[in-house]
This record gives sequence, C-alpha cells and structure tokens, in this order.
Amino acid sequence: MFAEHVLSGMRPTGSLHLGHYHGVLKNWVRLQNDHPCLFFAADWHALTTQYDDPRGIEKATWEMVIDWLAAGVDPKKAILFVQSQVLEHAELHLLFSMLTPLGWLERVPTYKDQQEKLSNKDLSTYGFLGYPLLMSADILIYRASKVPVGEDQIPHVEFTRELARRFNHLYGREPGFEDRAKETVGKLGGRDARAFERLRTSFQQEGDAEAAERARALLRESPKLSGEDRERLRGYLEGTGKTILVEPDYLLTEASKMPGLDGQKMSKSYGNTIALREDAASVTQKIRRMPTDPSRVRRSDAGDPDKCPVWQLHQVYSGAECRDWAAKGCRAAGIGCLECKQPVIDGILKEQAPMRERAQTYLDDPALVRDILADGRDKASALARETMRDVRAAMGLKHG
Ligand code: TRP
Ligand code: SF4
Repeated sequence: MFAEHVLSGMRPTGSLHLGHYHGVLKNWVRLQNDHPCLFFAADWHALTTQYDDPRGIEKATWEMVIDWLAAGVDPKKAILFVQSQVLEHAELHLLFSMLTPLGWLERVPTYKDQQEKLSNKDLSTYGFLGYPLLMSADILIYRASKVPVGEDQIPHVEFTRELARRFNHLYGREPGFEDRAKETVGKLGGRDARAFERLRTSFQQEGDAEAAERARALLRESPKLSGEDRERLRGYLEGTGKTILVEPDYLLTEASKMPGLDGQKMSKSYGNTIALREDAASVTQKIRRMPTDPSRVRRSDAGDPDKCPVWQLHQVYSGAECRDWAAKGCRAAGIGCLECKQPVIDGILKEQAPMRERAQTYLDDPALVRDILADGRDKASALARETMRDVRAAMGLKHG
C-alpha cells in the first residue's frame, strides 16, 4: 500500500496569473511540505475541448510548469509530470469505460454546463463525455487519498469515489477469496482465530457494530499478520472483498480572494489579469490605469474605498497600517489615487521578485525543466504500474 498521496492536476491554459497563485499554487506549495504530492499537467483533458486546435497545448504545458516552479512548487518534494507521458492513465481509462454506466457520465453536472458554456464548439464527443472518467483514472491510479480541487471539480471527485466502489465491488474478490481468507484467519492462531470468526458472524448476521470494532482491533493488534493479510481479513470481515482502488477525499481549495484589475474575479476570460511573471513596467502601468471609485473625479473629491477595486488589492497586499492610511486618505481626499496605488504596486512586485528569479533559471536552461518532467514521469509511472498490476489481475488480464 502507498503512503497517503495528494494528487492534483491542472489543464494547461498557458501562463498563469496571480489568481492561480493565490488560489491554487500557494496551496500546493504548502501541501508539498507535509505530504507526498503528485502534480501534473492534464494535457489530455485539454484535448477534450481543444481537439480541433491542439497546437497550443504543448507550449501552454511548458509555460504552466515553469509557472509552478516559479511559484515555489519544488521538484525535490513533489512529483511533477505531464499526463500524456504516463500511458497507464489511458489504459485505466479504457478499462473503466467497460464498467461505467453511460447515465453516470451524462448526469455529471459539468457535462451539460460546459457544453452550454462552450456552445461554439461541438462537445458531443466520446472524449468529452468521458472527461470525469479520465479524471478518475488520474486519481485512482495513484491510490491518492487527497485531491485538492476547486469547488467546480467536486462532482468529479465524488464520481471517482462511486467508480472506485463499483470497481471494488465487481472485482474485489480475488479468485478463491473465501478460501484464502480462511487460511489467513488461521495465521491469527487458535484462540484469536476462533474469536475473529465468532465476531465476524455476529457482525454479518446481526449487524453487531461493536463486534466489528473488536474484530478490527484484533487485526490491528495481531503481530502475526502482514499488511496484505490484514487487508484481506478486513475485506472478509466486512463482506466487501479486497480494496483494490482507494476512495479519495477532496480537499476544497478556497476560491482565491485575488481580484482582477476591474474588481471582478481575476480570470483570463475577463481580460483582467496580471501574469505570475509579468514584467515590472507592465504591472506598474496596469495598476496605474486601474479604475477607482467613479465618484472620485478630481483629486479634491472624497472617495469610498468600498467602491474601488484598488481597495480590494490593498486587502491582499497591504498591512493594517497601510490600509488605514489608504482608507482615511481616500475618505478625506487626503491622498491621490496614484499615491494610494503605489503600495499595491510595490506589494505585487515584491511578491513576484522571487518568482521571476526562479523562473529565470529555467528559462536560461530549459534542459532543467525537461529533466524534472522526465524524472516525474518515471516516478509516477512506477506508482501507476503497481496499481495496474492489481487492476489487470482483478479484471482477468494477467495472461501468464
Ligand atoms: N479537471 C481538473 C480541472 O479542470 C484538472 C484535473 C484533471 C484534475 N485530472 C485531475 C484535478 C485529477 C485533480 C485530480 O481543474
Ligand atoms: Fe481607490 Fe485609493 Fe483612489 Fe480611494 S484613494 S478611490 S481607495 S485608489
């Protein structure tokens, strides 16, 4: 069994902006310190909606990975890779397609939503319908227990849980499971073996939950069982067979508080972004041109910070003292808007400085990025192969 892996993917949409940084990447950087993490570029997922024009995907993947590294995602701590380089995802997706009822896919809310939203594209394709199924393969192939995602992706993780359950139910019984389980019970030794059988019967016939708990404690405490033995007996106790695939939990990534240049959420589709590694002159100019409280026409007009998108940026970048200075100065017309914007500009540039520096190393020597992704691919493949061995055996595809 694996350690508790955290896994997340991102579709390559090109260079990332500060909204991605404050929403997703800061979270990844935090997670990589306490968990074994896998982060990957979901380029096959990009193809589900960009099959008609796939040319940009490769470059977008590259820029995105450099942005991850710039943000502090550390290849010494986390495994970074590109989805399409680990072919096992595709194999698992294919095998899943055999057991997934069409209705399950059609009912995933993002299916119809996205088709309507992207109505200029023909998304009535097999691949697009299978979007959540591919995502399930991404997650289950690493037996990931935690999946950081935004709110919009929660239905996909729930779908993944259901699929894992269905898979385990269909294939969790290795041939001769009962016999092997009985044999394993013998390893517990006379008294404990008899106690285990008695507790199992109480649980299975009378639903005695306390008996199940005692049986589990017995398994936990017995020094005579290997990890695999323990797992088999847990399946025997609960009547579920063997857990081949692990049901993941999602870790909800809170929506970023980073507003865009117009006060709406920062998003590429609104054209209100600042790129993660945007150059200083351009950042300065964008902030200086930002709209402010519309009632502040002249310098002498008092303003209301609550009606000003710059004020929202102060919430992200300024300390209490500076915010106080800005709010008071605005309301009393004591400061001008350009003056008010300066600390925000300084804050953004300060945040970006280490990112730009880290990115430069990789821009100067792209072989470093290639090495990181090759190493990530190898590590991810090794984990994926282990799961696929069990999956193939469970589905009768061992062949010798
Ligand atoms: N669908 C996710 C998104 O658009 C990206 C993704 C693909 C993903 N596979 C995944 C996220 C597996 C988490 C786990 O954001
Ligand atoms: Fe906005 Fe600051 Fe100008 Fe007030 S002073 S309107 S908060 S930019």
